[in-house]
Order: sequence, then C-alpha cells, then structure tokens
Amino acid sequence: MKKVVSVVNLKGGVGKTTTAVNLAACWGEIGKKVLLVDMDPQGSASISVGVMNEGNELLEALQNTSELPVVPTEVPGVDLVPSGMALATTGLWFTEDAGNDLLAQCLEQTRGDWDLVIIDCPPSLGFQTMNSLMACQHVLVPVETSFLGLNGLKQMVAAIESFKSKNRDIKIEAVIPCRAQRRRRIHWDIMDSLNEMFPRKVSPIIRENVSLVEAPRHGKPVILTDRVSKGADDYRIVTLWLDERICEMQDSTEDRLVGFLPQNKYEF
Ligand SMILES: Nc1ncnc2c1ncn2[C@@H]1O[C@H](COP(=O)(O)OP(=O)(O)O)[C@@H](O)[C@H]1O
Ligand SMILES: [Mg+2]
Repeated sequence: MKKVVSVVNLKGGVGKTTTAVNLAACWGEIGKKVLLVDMDPQGSASISVGVMNEGNELLEALQNTSELPVVPTEVPGVDLVPSGMALATTGLWFTEDAGNDLLAQCLEQTRGDWDLVIIDCPPSLGFQTMNSLMACQHVLVPVETSFLGLNGLKQMVAAIESFKSKNRDIKIEAVIPCRAQRRRRIHWDIMDSLNEMFPRKVSPIIRENVSLVEAPRHGKPVILTDRVSKGADDYRIVTLWLDERICEMQDSTEDRLVGFLPQNKYEF
C-alpha cells in the first residue's frame, strides 16, 4: 500500500500548506516519487507549485469515485492533484456520512508509482478533511509555537483519535513546530508543552523564515527558489526525520545529515 500522509490542523495559517508543499519537494529531492493532493478549495498548494485550477476535475473524480486528475509539476519527483473553488461545493453534492471514503476510493483507482501521497487539508473538519483522514495512515500536525497555536490542539487530537473507529490505520505521526522563533520565551514554553503532550512525536522545528513566504509567489517550493536558506534547511531536516519514521529508513537523520548541510550546525 502507498504511504498516505495528511497534513491537518483545524486552525488556519499555521503552516499546513507550506509544510505539505515543501515536504513534497524535499522528499522529491532525495529521490522519492510524491503525489501532492490539494484538498483545500483555496488551491494554495496548487498555486505554490505553479498550477492554477478550478477544481472541477477533482470534484468530478470524487463524484464518480474515479481516477484522480494528476498533473506533472516542475518540482522534481512531484506530481499534483490540483484543487480550486469547485471543491467548496462538496456540501451540495455529498451527504455527511455517505462521502467520507470517496478520496480513499479515488486513490485506489489512481495508477502511478508514487512512494508517498501527501494531502494538504483546509482548516476545518468538513468533507475534505474527513476524506483525507479516511484515506491516510499518517497524520502530520503543523503547529505555530504561540499560545493560540496550542489552544484547541487537544480537541483536534481527540477528534483524530476518535477517527480510529472508522480508519484503524490512522496515527498521528508527528507534530511539526512551525514559524518558530527561538528567541521568544514563549517558544520554549510551547515546546515543553508539546513534548509533554506528544512524547517523541515533536519533529525538529521549522524556523520563521521569509524565504518560505516568498517562494509561493514564484510557484515553487523553497528548495528551488532559495536553495540555501533556513527554510530550505529546516524542511530538509524534517523530511529526513519523517523519512526515518514513515519510510522506515535504517540510517538515522543525524547520519544522513553528515555532509548534507555543511553550512550549519543542528540541534536535535
Ligand atoms: N516558517 C515560516 N516562516 C514564515 N512564514 C511562514 C512559515 N510557514 C508559513 N508561513 C506563512 O504563514 C502563512 C500561512 O501559512 P500556510 O502554510 O498557508 O498555513 P495554512 O495552510 O495552515 O493556512 C503564509 O503566508 C505562509 O507563507
Ligand atoms: Mg493551507
């Protein structure tokens, strides 16, 4: 079975799309074949890899439980299922219960040799996120290292855990601290709380970095717009950390980093 990863947080603006797009690119960079699925009607992940779309084909695929519309991207190793505003009309087409495993069925129908499927979710527990949770085995939760970022996390985790009755394979694989600012005291307080709430599941941090904000404007992930930047480095490190867990790599992240990022020193 393909490894399917959903990037989920019910809060908006925490770094879900940035994480989905840049992890896809970094996995592509280390030789994995990745299918990035945009399940957000805003289509931000699509735009971030240079694709504008209305989302009609994705909506149709879900309606017919048929093969997903896959387009190539300029990001090495990464294909995309693009989304757009049409996906916001799912409420009109699907009843609450009938439609939870439609994406899972569409993925089954979709032929391709991807190692990983990464799904970017919108900030709500609606049709799109429910379908993503049904289709995946691994959940990644980006969190902002601010007080409000932590607020509501417990309820969201409980909601995902309760999903186990519908999808036995689902597991919160990692919590990814995003937009981290280590010089702020609250950062360390939040990191302590996260480590307490999610022992061994808190990934290395993604620092606040302007290159990550600018990259989508060029329709590219940060490793292609600003190859040597904190943003690129941080997402490469988190990718290796996740690769070890999700793809069961034998070598540890620390071993694989030797000679990979010579310009900096990292703490784990
Ligand atoms: N590490 C980061 N440093 C600086 N800005 C970031 C970082 N991660 C995300 N952002 C910015 O924060 C905003 C929200 O990020 P986004 O990934 O779209 O969040 P979400 O998908 O959860 O709504 C975007 O403008 C994005 O460029
Ligand atoms: Mg988003």
